[in-house]
Amino acid sequence: MAYVLHLDASPRGERSHSRRMTRSFVEQWKQAHLGDTVIYRDIGRNPVPHITETWIAAAFTPPEQCTPELWEALRVSDELVDELVDEFLAADIYVMGVPMYNWTVSSGFKAYIDNIVRINRTWAYIPEENPEFPYKPLVHGKKLFVISARGDGGFAPGGRNAQRDFLTPYLKEAFSMLGVTDITFVDVENDEYGGQKLAESIASAQARIAHLVTV
Ligand SMILES: Cc1cc2nc3c(=O)[nH]c(=O)nc-3n(C[C@H](O)[C@H](O)[C@H](O)COP(=O)(O)O)c2cc1C
Repeated sequence: MAYVLHLDASPRGERSHSRRMTRSFVEQWKQAHLGDTVIYRDIGRNPVPHITETWIAAAFTPPEQCTPELWEALRVSDELVDELVDEFLAADIYVMGVPMYNWTVSSGFKAYIDNIVRINRTWAYIPEENPEFPYKPLVHGKKLFVISARGDGGFAPGGRNAQRDFLTPYLKEAFSMLGVTDITFVDVENDEYGGQKLAESIASAQARIAHLVTV
């Protein structure tokens, strides 16, 4: 039995393709994996805060250097971050719906990443082990499914927009720094065209999802 973290980042409701696809994925996953527990987080509707000075102090100030005032500010800031990181660490499977905004992830999803990439919780700084790349992943054995929706099409390798897809390589790099390297991408393209082009992309994503939940 596994824990599934189902996360949606689109600010849109029923019109959101990524939201509909993650819902469909999770419904099918539950049928194929009876007994798995699903935790849901909606950062599209309930955004997580962007990084603040207090957040940075909380992440990087050694406890012995904290004044009582700073300690109190950090405690409040840390509560939400701890909740996000605890939830992330507790899950075995991630199903994340991510819209493409300006060729990469939305700022809301980027804020989520900034919160969970937390020193000594999800990664550690250990230059003694590897001076070339001193960031040691602390998260292991997870599986991530990213369902992204895009207005345009042709983002697959060789496509006319392939060089503009900064979402896929960015997410691969950001999550691999934490140790999450088993990542599967399902893309819905052509939202802005609608019609047959969009319908074909949705059908292809649905077929992939039906397969992915069984393997
Ligand atoms: C602010 C904004 C920026 C966007 N930037 C892009 C873009 O760079 N490339 C693209 O193909 N589509 C872009 N789109 C279209 C969205 O990716 C598309 O509507 C997608 O379906 C959104 O995901 P959702 O359906 O889950 O809400 C953008 C949409 C918005 C609102």
